[in-house]
Amino acid sequence: MTCLEKNRSPLPRVAPVQVHWKGKQRPHAVTAFSSHLTEIFDPQRSVKAPSHFAYDSLKKEWHNLLFQGDNTQVLDLLLSNGFRDNIDFIYIDPPFNSGSDYVRTIKLRGAVTRPALLQQTAYQDTWDTAAYLQFMYERLLKLKELLRDTGFLCVHLDYHVGHYVKLVLDEIFGQENFRNELIVKRVYKNLQGQFTEIKSLPQGHDVIYCYSKQPETRFKPVTVEKEQVNHPQGYWKEFWSGADRPTMRYPILGVTPTAGQWKWRKTRAQQAVDNYNEYQRNRTSDTLSLYHYWMQTGCDKEFIRKSPTGKIEHWVPPSPRKFLDTVWSDIASYSFDHGFRTEKSEELLERLLTAFSKPGDLVLDVFAGSGTTARVAQLLGRRWIACDVHPGAVQMTSRLLQQNIGEQLRTKTTRYPIFLIYQVNPQTRGKRTPSNNPSVRATMTVESLDNQNVRITLDSFDSPILLKSLGISKKILKEKIPDFRSMIDAVLIDPDYDGTVFHGSYADVPLKKDALVKGTYEFNIPREHSTIGVKILAVTGEETMLVQKI
Ligand SMILES: C[S@@+](CC[C@H](N)C(=O)[O-])C[C@H]1O[C@@H](n2cnc3c(N)ncnc32)[C@H](O)[C@@H]1O
Repeated sequence: MTCLEKNRSPLPRVAPVQVHWKGKQRPHAVTAFSSHLTEIFDPQRSVKAPSHFAYDSLKKEWHNLLFQGDNTQVLDLLLSNGFRDNIDFIYIDPPFNSGSDYVRTIKLRGAVTRPALLQQTAYQDTWDTAAYLQFMYERLLKLKELLRDTGFLCVHLDYHVGHYVKLVLDEIFGQENFRNELIVKRVYKNLQGQFTEIKSLPQGHDVIYCYSKQPETRFKPVTVEKEQVNHPQGYWKEFWSGADRPTMRYPILGVTPTAGQWKWRKTRAQQAVDNYNEYQRNRTSDTLSLYHYWMQTGCDKEFIRKSPTGKIEHWVPPSPRKFLDTVWSDIASYSFDHGFRTEKSEELLERLLTAFSKPGDLVLDVFAGSGTTARVAQLLGRRWIACDVHPGAVQMTSRLLQQNIGEQLRTKTTRYPIFLIYQVNPQTRGKRTPSNNPSVRATMTVESLDNQNVRITLDSFDSPILLKSLGISKKILKEKIPDFRSMIDAVLIDPDYDGTVFHGSYADVPLKKDALVKGTYEFNIPREHSTIGVKILAVTGEETMLVQKI
C-alpha cells in the first residue's frame, strides 16, 4: 500500500439513492376519504350491498373492487380500511408525461352511415417534471404500504420520465429490491425512409420496472412456447459442471469429482439415481423408453445414470418451452381492441401476472384505463382492485369485465363473479347515483306480463354530445343512424332497485363489436311493487338510468 492510500480517509458508506425536485414533500398523513357504493355487478344476485367497506369483511367473502376517483384518495381509502400489507401484485401504467392528449376512438355499433368513428379526449398528458415526480412519489409511497412483504410492483413507463421514476423507485423501495427493467415493444410509424438525416431513432420500446418489497422474495421464471422442440424424446447431459464448489463434490454411483462440482444437491441427485434404478426395474422390454416412463409417471421425475463410457449424466426432458430474459420483443405490449389509445395487451399482463402472482392473489392497478389488468386478473383467477379517475375509463372497464364474467359464468370457471363499483370522495365531484347524465336521454315502455314477469322495451336514445361530435343534426339522425341502438354499448337491469345502489342482475353487453343490444327484455321481478332500474351505457362513455315503479 502506498503512503497516499494509507492516509486517505475511508470512503463514506454508499448513501441510499435520494432524488430531489422542486417542491418535493412527503405526503400528508392518510386521510379517511369517504366512498360511495354506486353499483354491484352480481348477475346471480347472490349478495347484499355491504354495509361498510373494510378488508376484513371482504376477506370472508371476496368481491372485486372498481373505483372511480383520484387514485391518491383511493389509496388512502384502502390504507385506512385494512388493505395495508395485503396486496400481492401491483401493475401501474401511469401517464408517461408524453406531452400528448390521449384520445379514445369511439365506434358506433351495427350498420351505420359513415362516419361511424369519432374521437374523445381520454386524458391529457402534459406535466411539469417536478409536479409529475411529486405525483408519482406520493402514489408510490402509498402503493408500497399496501404491498405484502412477498409482493411485487411493476411500473410501465417510457423514455420521457422512466429514468427519473426509476430513481424515485430506488429511493422508496431500495436498490436491493430492484429486480428487472423489462423492455417491451411499442408500435410506431417508421418514417425514416423519407430523410437522409434524422435527429433521433424512432422509439421502439417501453420499459417496465419491477420491484419487490423484500430482497429475499422469488418469482416464477417466465417461459414461452418454443417454435421447435430440439429433443422431442429428451436427452442425457453431463452431470458435472466447471463451477467450483467443494460442498457439491459428493460421491455418486461410485464417482466423486476432484474439481468442479455436481449440478444438484446430494439428496436431489440420490433421488434421481433411485428413479433411474426404478425405471430399469419396471422396464420389462425395450419398448418402454425413458421418455414414455417419464410421461406415464407424471412428467416430474428426474433421472441420473452412469453412461456406458462411465460418465455421470442427468436426463433433460423434452421442453416445449424456453426461458425468457428481459427483452420481451416477441409480443406486442399495446392493444387496439377497444379504441383506448394507451391500452396494453392482455398477453403482456398475462405474462406479468403469471410470473408475479398466483391464483387467488390480490392484484391492484390504480391507473386502470380500459381495465386490462383487472380483465386479465379476472381471467386468471386472481382477485383484483382497479381504479381510474375518468368515468369513461371506469365504464369501459366495467363493461368489458361484464363480458368476461358472463363467459366465465356460462363455463363455470370463476370463483369471483361479483364486482362492486365505488365512487371515492363523491362530495367533491358531485354524487353519481343514480348515474344520470343530463346530456343523454332515453325512454322505455314497461309492460307487466303477470304478477312476476315484466317486459321492457327501449323506445329511444339520444346523446347530444354524440350528435355534436359526429357533426349531424337531430333532423338527419334517423337517416345517419337508423337504429338508435348503434349508440348504446350496454344495457344493465336491476329488477329491484333500492334507489341508492344499482344491483345489475341482467346485463346485455354484446361481445361482438358490431352487434347491437337487444333493446327488449323480459325478466322476473322479485316482488309486487318493485322498482326497476335500467342503466344504459352509451358508446361515448356517458350513461343514464331509467327508473320505474311497477
Ligand atoms: C396509460 S392509461 C392506462 C392504460 C391501461 N393500462 C390499459 O391497458 O388500458 C393511464 C390511465 O390513468 C388514468 N389516470 C391518470 N391520472 C389518474 C389519477 N390521478 N387517478 C386515477 N387514474 C388516473 C387515466 O384516466 C388513464 O385512463
